[in-house]
Amino acid sequence: MNGNTIAKAVIPVAGYGTRLLPATKSQPKEMLPVVDRPAVQYVVEEAVASGIESILFVTGRGKRAIEDYFDYSIELEGELEQKGKKDLLHEIREIGNMVQIFYVRQKIQRGLGDAIYQAKRFVNGTSFAVLLADDIIDADVPVLSRMKEAYQENLGVILAVTRIPREEISQWGVIQGKKIGERLYEVEDLVEKPEPEEAPSDLAIVGRYILTPSIFESIARTTPGKGGEIQLTDAIRSLRGSERIYAYEFAGTYYGVGDKIGYLKANIAFALKREDLGKELREFLEKLREEGLHEDGVKKWRR
Ligand code: UTP
Repeated sequence: MNGNTIAKAVIPVAGYGTRLLPATKSQPKEMLPVVDRPAVQYVVEEAVASGIESILFVTGRGKRAIEDYFDYSIELEGELEQKGKKDLLHEIREIGNMVQIFYVRQKIQRGLGDAIYQAKRFVNGTSFAVLLADDIIDADVPVLSRMKEAYQENLGVILAVTRIPREEISQWGVIQGKKIGERLYEVEDLVEKPEPEEAPSDLAIVGRYILTPSIFESIARTTPGKGGEIQLTDAIRSLRGSERIYAYEFAGTYYGVGDKIGYLKANIAFALKREDLGKELREFLEKLREEGLHEDGVKKWRR
């Protein structure tokens, strides 16, 4: 491993998940299943496939289910073994073996920037990756692995970006940048949740970042921004001038599973791709369409 290799990743999971209430009243949003595995597993798998060796979860109260999920489940494993369910046993056991995981708690939910600040000791002066667990990207090549390549070539902050329709732009962090490669932009400015007429582009930052250790000083200097939270975007913004900042426009389909419509779309899209589920789901969706997608049509249809 050379000094420029990104081997550590931080996954903040301390947020309240209010957009998915009431489902998230008593369970972490990151544990809600997309088809049959929790959303967070897709993101951990992307990190592992991108060569990440250790992960820090920044957790909070009510998030213990995530720790249990990535632990062994001795009783369940015994039960599966006794019943001869070898494949399931293997799958369940492997979840606990995927990668070395650390945990730290963000005691007060002061925003994403503050959550990342909790990782200061873990990253210990190296550059590192951040993955948001409610941003799932379906891509042939893991997006983070492409971002790591961009980091090795440019040695700056790398932000994943995707194009978003103008009318939705005010929900996003947006970059203003100069295109310097097929998928790479040099970032000149970034703004959190701009009004559509003030947005500098339609390139929105999604939940994959490679950050340099100077981010911690910058977060420490950042005062609460939009929504009273310490925004990571604001901390990255104040690195301009001292760090080079790049945006990588990834190839792949993005699903924001932290809100209801994104969550539903991800479930349908991933289930349609599955050998064991896709055919029947496709038939069901086609049938719904034939009968009309209005409520009566849905009611009429019986298996
Ligand atoms: P979000 O704003 O998407 O998450 O933050 P949230 O606050 O849980 O969701 P809503 O808006 O109430 O529905 C982006 C990421 O940052 C984490 C969240 O867990 C999520 O992964 N986060 C946010 C923290 O870890 N701590 C915070 O104080 C805020």
